[in-house]
Amino acid sequence: MATDSLPSSSSTTEVPRPAAGGVATPLLSLRGISKHFGAVQALYAVDLDLPSGQVTALCGDNGAGKSVLTKTIAGIHQADEGEILWEGRPVQIRNPGDAASLGIETVYQDLALADNLDIVQNMFLGRERLKGLVLDDGSMEGAAAETLASLHVTTVRSIRQPVATLSGGQRQAVAVAKAVMWNSKLVMLDEPTAALGVAQTRMVLDLVLRLKDRGLAVMVISHNLNDVFEVADRIAILRLGRMVAQDSVKAFDRQSVVDYMTTGSTSRAPGAPTAAAAPRPD
Ligand SMILES: Nc1ncnc2c1ncn2[C@@H]1O[C@H](COP(=O)(O)OP(=O)(O)O)[C@@H](O)[C@H]1O
Ligand SMILES: [Mg+2]
Repeated sequence: MATDSLPSSSSTTEVPRPAAGGVATPLLSLRGISKHFGAVQALYAVDLDLPSGQVTALCGDNGAGKSVLTKTIAGIHQADEGEILWEGRPVQIRNPGDAASLGIETVYQDLALADNLDIVQNMFLGRERLKGLVLDDGSMEGAAAETLASLHVTTVRSIRQPVATLSGGQRQAVAVAKAVMWNSKLVMLDEPTAALGVAQTRMVLDLVLRLKDRGLAVMVISHNLNDVFEVADRIAILRLGRMVAQDSVKAFDRQSVVDYMTTGSTSRAPGAPTAAAAPRPD
């Protein structure tokens, strides 16, 4: 009965690999994902691709469904319909544990950090390392410091500092470091710069680019178009629960993103991003 695990030396469809045209199978693909809450239809048959080594910006006005979509991928919500493909294979994400075991980590809008705990405690919350029956503080401190250093987070004075004493940007950095410490393959950030000043925003955007350079798939929710055009390789735009455009950042300009967000279409020349075959005048 274990035939589905047989290696398929001759098959070309089993293993995710670059398809014709050099486009690799996305790490995560959503197909036809719908979700309602009572009378509210939050998502209508949404398709989304999140490739490794690329930043996908998820844009949309308030209430467009960005957070619901993120939480569906994170296993907090269950889709009513549709399919989730991970490395090209159908998977079920029933709860946050399923998401974590695939390698999906989420940094939420309302940062889920415990103010009274220090940085190390936060990064290992719920996944503490033990040495015998006691916490292995040395090992956890080492791993936390190493992860922060690898992300070039240098402004934190002490990793034993309570999170309440950190600036907004530093808190984001700790939340991102926490997410990447667990061998994640996909990191989703919901409005990571919404509450930040200019310098802190810069730091978080740099972090996002570092995650991408490490080969992770990154999804960033933002309605700050400066941030979007600074870090995104791809843009996906939700409007009233529908995916109205999704393509390489090159297919958009600021005005067309705004058009899609507000009206669901654009008449601008670089647009027509969903019409893949349309020639683009350069
Ligand atoms: N838990 C919930 N129960 C009922 N309605 C919800 C829930 N979460 C989100 N919604 C609704 O789904 C829609 C999309 O919300 P959301 O994904 O939070 O939008 P945003 O794009 O601003 O993140 C909104 O109409 C919102 O009111
Ligand atoms: Mg939201």
